[in-house]
Amino acid sequence: MSDITLDVAARAVLDQVLIGLLPASALPGADGDGYLDEEGTPIAVREGDAVSSRQPVKWRTPESVASSQPVVVAIGGQLPAEPVPAGSLLLLAAAGVRADDTRHAEWASAWSAAGADIVKIPVTAAEAGPRAAELAAAYSSGSLLEIATIPHGAGNGRTLFLTGFSGSGKSTIARALVERLNAERSVTLLDGDVVRTHLSRGLGFSREDRDLNIRRIGWVAGEVTKHGGLAVCAPIAPYDETRKWVRATVEAAGGPGSFLLVWISTPIEECERRDVKGLYAKARAGEITGFTGIDDPYEEPADAELVIDTTHVDVPDAVEQIISLLRG
Ligand code: ADX
Repeated sequence: MSDITLDVAARAVLDQVLIGLLPASALPGADGDGYLDEEGTPIAVREGDAVSSRQPVKWRTPESVASSQPVVVAIGGQLPAEPVPAGSLLLLAAAGVRADDTRHAEWASAWSAAGADIVKIPVTAAEAGPRAAELAAAYSSGSLLEIATIPHGAGNGRTLFLTGFSGSGKSTIARALVERLNAERSVTLLDGDVVRTHLSRGLGFSREDRDLNIRRIGWVAGEVTKHGGLAVCAPIAPYDETRKWVRATVEAAGGPGSFLLVWISTPIEECERRDVKGLYAKARAGEITGFTGIDDPYEEPADAELVIDTTHVDVPDAVEQIISLLRG
């Protein structure tokens, strides 16, 4: 039997399986797999279609709600545009939200005061929007009235995550962006090299170490985002799965749309031609092994909100494109 460690998004799936919102097949792994939380504590075991958990289920099953009220699915911090019709059922996406997140409790009490019955559901904010109709139907025979989302206006927390090869231009663009934006709002810069001298000192470049490095960056960015700040991150972040974990973590903290991925897609040939730090020459000479783009993978993102190739785009232009994205 192999053990599988579940991140925030996967734990939400486990919770949904346990209350019957999703089939066991939605969980990763095969029969006999054990599931661990992020601290390595065993939390559940799967056998066939049955999943048994060692932790009490803290969510209400759809059957126990079995409502006929009209439904509002809430995935962010804004009250529904229209007053909540008295007697409506409000499904609040609550997976990945920490118990000490006061904003979440504030929204819940505001909606409750507005006359809604609130059921917290084990779905992340990012996932609840696309699945709103299905979720509403599981809990109620009433109609889906609306999906309440977080607004994109000024003052909302955001994470801007630049990914790409070493030498692609991430850090230069990130620094120029921070300089430009610092006048209007405070910005937290989490640059790859800088993070590795502080937060991730001692980590190497194995897949495990890179993952841990990126998850640390993602966790800090989520905190910054939750408190209304702007986090600009600029690591290589070569693995798609890890970048998706960061997206889910930030969106669970800051709401849907709070995470923006920018792929600095400058090709490896151009990065190697620049070789600002002389590391590509060392990698070619075999003095460094496992160098991203030379003998280590980079998984190109298919979910970037913006793609910039600095072979053709200069720094001021890149900064303008990113600012338009942030204001969009
Ligand atoms: S990541 O893969 O974990 O996201 P990160 O952005 O923190 O990488 O660090 C990348 C920087 O470390 C590069 O810009 C480069 O200066 C340096 N570096 C040293 N060894 C490697 C390696 N094997 N692969 C990639 N970058 C390396």
